[in-house]
Amino acid sequence: MNEFINTQKVGNQNINGETTWKSPSNIALVKYWGKYGRQMPANASVSFTLENAFSKTTLKYKNGTGKVVLFFEGEKNEAFGAKIEKFMQSVEDINPFYQELDFEISSTNSFPHSAGIASSASAMSALCMGLCEIENKLFANLSDKDFFLKKASYLSRLASGSASRSVYPKLGQWGEHPEIEGSSNLYAIDVHESVDPIFHTFKNSILIASSAVKEVSSTLGHKMMNENPYADVRFKQANENLAKLMTAMKNGDLDTFMQIVELEALTLHALMMTSNPSFILLQPSTIVMIDSIRKFRKKTRLPVCFTLDAGPNIHLLYPENIATEVQKFIQDELLELCENGVIIEDQVGNGSVKC
Ligand code: DP6
Repeated sequence: MNEFINTQKVGNQNINGETTWKSPSNIALVKYWGKYGRQMPANASVSFTLENAFSKTTLKYKNGTGKVVLFFEGEKNEAFGAKIEKFMQSVEDINPFYQELDFEISSTNSFPHSAGIASSASAMSALCMGLCEIENKLFANLSDKDFFLKKASYLSRLASGSASRSVYPKLGQWGEHPEIEGSSNLYAIDVHESVDPIFHTFKNSILIASSAVKEVSSTLGHKMMNENPYADVRFKQANENLAKLMTAMKNGDLDTFMQIVELEALTLHALMMTSNPSFILLQPSTIVMIDSIRKFRKKTRLPVCFTLDAGPNIHLLYPENIATEVQKFIQDELLELCENGVIIEDQVGNGSVKC
C-alpha cells in the first residue's frame, strides 16, 4: 500500500464546505513527451513554475455520491465537469471518500483560452490542491506541509502529468533520475534551491504565433511516442539533458542552459514531425522568430533563448537584469510577427497558493 492511499470514510459526518486555490501553469525546460502505465513518465522532466498564468478554482462540497457540476469562466461546462468526475472515479482506490461527496467547482483562468498556454497544468493542480485541503479538513492526514504538497503533486500527475510540477515554487522536477535525490515517477519535487538564484527571477515573454486550437492534443502526442522509431534514444537523451541542465543551472552557466533548452524545444517538435501520422505544430512565423532570436543573441551576446510547448508559440526566456534590452528587441523585431501583436508577459513564480 503506498503512502498516498487514504481509505478513511466520511461516514455520517455532516459535510458542507468550500475552499479556493490558485495554481500556475509551467513551462518545461526538459520535456515530458511519452508515458506508460498509470501516468508514468517515459523520461524525467523539469519546468519553471509561472506566475501570471494561473487557474483559480473554488470547490464547494457536501455529502453526496461523487457528482461534479463544473462552471468554467462562470458558465456551466458539462464536458469539463464530466472529465473531472471521471478523474475522481479513477482515483477511487486512492481516495474513496470523493465518492461520498458532491462537488460544485468554479474555475477561471487568468489567461485567455486563445493564448495557447497549457491550461491542464494550472487547472488540475488547482483542483488537486483543493481536494487535498478537503481531505486534510476531514481526516487531518496531510497536516505536514511537505506531505500535503507531495500528495497534491501525486494526484495532479494522475490528472495531467505536467500538472505535478506546478504546485512547487520556481522549479519543479518530475520523474526518477539517478542524479536527482528524492526524484520519483509518482510525484514532482521542488528543486529550486539547487540552482543559482539568477534562475529564480527569470522572465518568460510568450510570443503568440497562433492562437488556433491545437490540431493534436498532448494526450495523443504522448501515445504516438509508443510507435516513434526514435523513442528509446529520445528518452535516454532527455535524462542526459536533465543531468547537464541541472549542473548548468547550479553553476549559473547560461550558455549551456540556453543550448539545452533550445535543443529540448526543437527535439519535442522533431518528435512530432517523425510520429506516424506526422504532425507539425510550428507556424512559419515561429521559425522566423527563432531565426531572429538567434541572430539577436549572436549580435548582442545577451543570454536570451526560446522554448516551445506543444504549440507554435515562442516562450522567450531571459534573466531579469536584461529585461530592458530584451523588451526593446521584442518591440523592434518580434512584435510584428505575433498574431494580432499579442504577447503575454510572465516570469518564474511561487507555485500554488490558498486564496
Ligand atoms: C509538451 O501534461 O499535457 O507540455 O499527462 O496527457 O495530461 P497529459 O499530458 P501533458 O503533457 C505536457 C507535454 C509538454 C511537455 C511538458 O510539459 O513537459
